[in-house]
Amino acid sequence: MAQVAETLPGRAVRHAVVVGANGGIGRALCETLACRHPGIVLSRLAREPVGLPELVAKTSDIACDITSEASIADAVAQISPEYPPDQIWIATGWLHDGRHRPEKTWKELDAEHLLHAYRINAVGPALLLKHLLPRLAKSHPARIGVLSARVGSISDNRLGGWHSYRASKAALNMLIRNFAIELQRRNLPHVIVGLQPGTTDTPLSAPFQRRLPAGQLQTPAFTAQHLVEVVEHLQPSDSGGLFDFLGEPFAP
Ligand SMILES: NC(=O)c1ccc[n+]([C@@H]2O[C@H](COP(=O)([O-])OP(=O)(O)OC[C@H]3O[C@@H](n4cnc5c(N)ncnc54)[C@H](OP(=O)(O)O)[C@@H]3O)[C@@H](O)[C@H]2O)c1
Repeated sequence: MAQVAETLPGRAVRHAVVVGANGGIGRALCETLACRHPGIVLSRLAREPVGLPELVAKTSDIACDITSEASIADAVAQISPEYPPDQIWIATGWLHDGRHRPEKTWKELDAEHLLHAYRINAVGPALLLKHLLPRLAKSHPARIGVLSARVGSISDNRLGGWHSYRASKAALNMLIRNFAIELQRRNLPHVIVGLQPGTTDTPLSAPFQRRLPAGQLQTPAFTAQHLVEVVEHLQPSDSGGLFDFLGEPFAP
């Protein structure tokens, strides 16, 4: 991605929506945006918004479970109409929990595991976008960053395994591309991309950090600062693409 003068018209960032605001990367994104854009209003969507940290920015904290379209619709209806969002961040995601760990072999495939991953990593973000896109100003380009993962790249897959996570992120990447195409067809100026944050020290990566080469584990603050930099330099032609935290594109 060329780090040159933007072709998207600039405007102060007055309102950003962050979904997954209680996650490791989601929280750090909120902190970064609050420091970077004085005067911003942050709509923070989380399953448990009570207890989200206070920030230097004005926040509006809204409950949202992305496995329920009714919860998504209800949450989006509560987003302040004062300013249409200039940025949307979808920082939700699921890899493991007390019952499920990423599969090492097809022998471990389980329908409930696969469907849970699809529900959170692909279906949830798509339904969020369905409800959030009508809230954007038609004439002003918004920037939309959706947290994906490089392991969802089919062309980059040389190791196999992690079936549910990989397949659900690949589905997410297809949906992001589809949204980009439809936005363009509808003459809507918004730019949407999928993002690979780099391995970041959060509950999602915690069980898999031991074998990482020294120095490769990023803090959430480092990741968030880089992702914001990437998204705020996107060009219209980037829409539908996948980018890592350094702004380098990668193939789906
Ligand atoms: N960390 C990494 O190394 C890494 C690497 C590659 C890609 N990613 C991607 O980056 C994104 C953020 O991950 P993270 O590392 O910040 O993980 P995290 O700390 O586990 O955060 C995940 C977030 O997803 C939310 N979430 C899960 N299920 C939800 C649901 N049904 N409704 C609403 N929210 C739900 C969680 O909400 P609760 O707080 O309520 O549980 C949490 O806020 C994910 O898409 C992940 O795949 C991360």
